[in-house]
Amino acid sequence: MKKYMLLFGFFLLIACANKSEKAACASDASDKKKKNFEMYQMSEMALLMEQMYVDNQLLKERINKGDTIGKFPNHFLQIHKAVMTDESENDAFFDEQAALFIKSQELIYEDPKNAKEHFNNGVSACVRCHEVKCGGPIPKIKKLYIK
Ligand code: HEC
Repeated sequence: MKKYMLLFGFFLLIACANKSEKAACASDASDKKKKNFEMYQMSEMALLMEQMYVDNQLLKERINKGDTIGKFPNHFLQIHKAVMTDESENDAFFDEQAALFIKSQELIYEDPKNAKEHFNNGVSACVRCHEVKCGGPIPKIKKLYIK
């Protein structure tokens, strides 16, 4: 019984999430919208995001192990230029959040002693932008947090 309750809760969560989300990004687009595309083409921005996700996963491992942190990945700066699925989303809010995100990522490399704190601030910046722009990947992004 407990198992079913959990399952029910899970579906409820998905239902709510879907309702409040708008399809600002390809990963949020409803199935109906997706069917209108011959094939799901990833935008430059979506590709960059996937790359940032992987880079941050590796960075998290290095921070956890106490390995050297290396250099700020300059390709992250593409966030200011990369073409999005829906260019109308490239607004003042996006610019502002992108700058905040880059700032917290840079701090990891400038002040590696507090790498964990800066890293988690960076992840929060991902989440803050996504809360407005692209809800779909948030649960995945939250897994990046270093506990
Ligand atoms: C300034 C806003 C902003 C920040 C910061 C941001 N994102 Fe995104 N993200 C977006 C937008 C907008 C899209 C949709 C891109 C598109 O479809 O063109 C997106 C898409 C994605 C996607 C889905 C890509 C796909 O397959 O369609 C993932 C995963 C993602 N972001 C992860 C991250 C992670 C991880 C971070 C932080 C390391 C991050 N994002 C930071 C705005 C942001």
